Amino acid sequence: MQKSPIIPVKQFKNHENVYQGRLNDVDVIFTKNIDIGQSVYGERLVKDEKGQEFREWNPHRSKMCAYLKKGGKEFQFTKDMVILYLGASSGTTVSHLSDIIIGGRIYCIEFSARSIRELVQRLGNRNNIIPILADATQPGQYRSLIPELVDLVYQDVAQPEQAKLLIDNMRMFLKPGGWFYIAIKARSIDVSQDPGIIFKRQEKVLERAGCQIAETKDITPFSDDHVMIVGVHENN
Ligand SMILES: C[S@@+](CC[C@H](N)C(=O)[O-])C[C@H]1O[C@@H](n2cnc3c(N)ncnc32)[C@H](O)[C@@H]1O
Repeated sequence: MQKSPIIPVKQFKNHENVYQGRLNDVDVIFTKNIDIGQSVYGERLVKDEKGQEFREWNPHRSKMCAYLKKGGKEFQFTKDMVILYLGASSGTTVSHLSDIIIGGRIYCIEFSARSIRELVQRLGNRNNIIPILADATQPGQYRSLIPELVDLVYQDVAQPEQAKLLIDNMRMFLKPGGWFYIAIKARSIDVSQDPGIIFKRQEKVLERAGCQIAETKDITPFSDDHVMIVGVHENN
């Protein structure tokens, strides 16, 4: 096994449990690895001079990291929070959020059996992950598996009707005034429409459902044709 390089690492902005350093002359964002020695998706591991281990957070693989790299202002994750994550796939972004919200929990909804199997294989040592094989358009079907209200809903499903799917889940599971992050891909909604119009329309759907949008951030070139919308839902 290759030895992790030792580099200076410091906190990224004032974001809890997010770090930065320079690796091969490039600025890199890291999270502190809670599953020591394990790389989840091929990301590089480094150590600081105290011997603490960090995992590179790749903005080309994770839209949340792309949002931070593009200067996204809202970082609403804290170390004990409970998250509902819709579209967990095989756990790339989930793994970094798991490093960040160490004492909390992430309920991971994913409808591909293959992806969730991979997620379980990769993240099985982490005790703050709860994988759920389910369709996020049917929140009633997993209601009994989530016996608490959550602090934040994160959604990245790349499907038409994304905003509606988010709203239905927030109404069922999110604490009033809780935060949401939604990665929206214009082409998944309508290939023929101008992306700017599509994003505005999704914002309107969210606002009509009682959301206050704090920021809409274009996350190209890390994810083409995508924005991250961040805001608060008043649960009306
Ligand atoms: C773009 S990938 C998510 C990548 C992941 N969020 C990450 O950053 O690591 C979208 C995922 O959403 C899942 N998905 C799409 N529609 C879904 C639905 N209705 N219910 C649950 N999962 C869904 C897909 O199977 C796919 O794994």
